[in-house]
Amino acid sequence: MNAIPDLGRVKGSGLAPIIELSSITRSFGLVHALRGISLSLVPGKALALVGESGCGKTSCARIISRMDHPTSGEMLFRGQNVTTAGSAETERAYRRAVQMVFQDPFASLNPVFSIEHHLTRPLLLHGHAKGGVEAKAGVNSLLASVGLDPTVTAYKFPHELSGGQRQRVNIARALAVQPEVLVADEPTSMLDVSIRLGILELLSSIKRERNLALLYITHDIATAAYVAEEIVVMFAGQMVEWGDTNSVIENPQHPYTRLLLSAVPDPYRPFIPGESAKFLRHAEEVRRLSRPESQVVQQAASNHFFRSLGQQ
Ligand SMILES: Nc1ncnc2c1ncn2[C@@H]1O[C@H](COP(=O)(O)OP(=O)(O)OP(=O)(O)O)[C@@H](O)[C@H]1O
Ligand SMILES: [Mg+2]
Repeated sequence: MNAIPDLGRVKGSGLAPIIELSSITRSFGLVHALRGISLSLVPGKALALVGESGCGKTSCARIISRMDHPTSGEMLFRGQNVTTAGSAETERAYRRAVQMVFQDPFASLNPVFSIEHHLTRPLLLHGHAKGGVEAKAGVNSLLASVGLDPTVTAYKFPHELSGGQRQRVNIARALAVQPEVLVADEPTSMLDVSIRLGILELLSSIKRERNLALLYITHDIATAAYVAEEIVVMFAGQMVEWGDTNSVIENPQHPYTRLLLSAVPDPYRPFIPGESAKFLRHAEEVRRLSRPESQVVQQAASNHFFRSLGQQ
């Protein structure tokens, strides 16, 4: 197919990717959720997957976290081909290495168990604590590492915590497994705006401290710029623009990326009657032009690529 220079494998980056996707597709009947996704996740780096609802972000996350398999394409884990299910041992190693944080912090915690229980289980299951004393110390250290007070939080139940605190517990639970890759699918979209930044800062700092490869999924390009060194802008299952976040945000080439950036709210812009109707017409036109499949990739900088508009 197309020879798209992959993210994270750009010359000079010098880092070996832990997960590599090459030309991944995923179809659900007639719906082509993913069309030729090629990207790499690298230790200590965050990659943001950005795009509107239905563009294929979760489909991609599910393939990376092995909750789903691609229709075609190739997937490597530490350089090994894992496109189809391997031995039980390889699968176990993969599932341990790749942990997810979901959008809904409440749905992912069991209401009948304490926070301590939620964290003790993975510690014991994965052999990171032997016995009660070690598990207790492990729980305390995990809670502290996500900015929660262990003495107050450990014995609480999920409903006794705020949304932001629950999401921190979910992050702690993922960390309990000592993963190498963290996939965070819209981790702040159900949280109050005022506490989103704290969660994004936490994800950034654990990525740095633990040398984690982070896949941060969002529809909000402004937060992508905050968290990730590299960005992939997706539309209708295709990567339309990707590369160094700064380059993509400061010098966007694809009309859909420009549309996303122009939709970021600017509190200083005056309200002009009729402007929103004009914007919506423009948005519809950009989306129509961006939908057809295109194999032509252009380069804007050493690590900045974009897809030309396809045939209508
Ligand atoms: N299991 C499935 N069966 C059928 N269609 C699916 C399935 N999962 C996803 N799709 C379709 O694939 C496309 C991409 O969906 P996906 O959930 O990946 O989008 P998304 O970018 O995560 O959207 P959102 O921002 O709303 O979460 C959509 O058209 C969706 O309807
Ligand atoms: Mg989704």
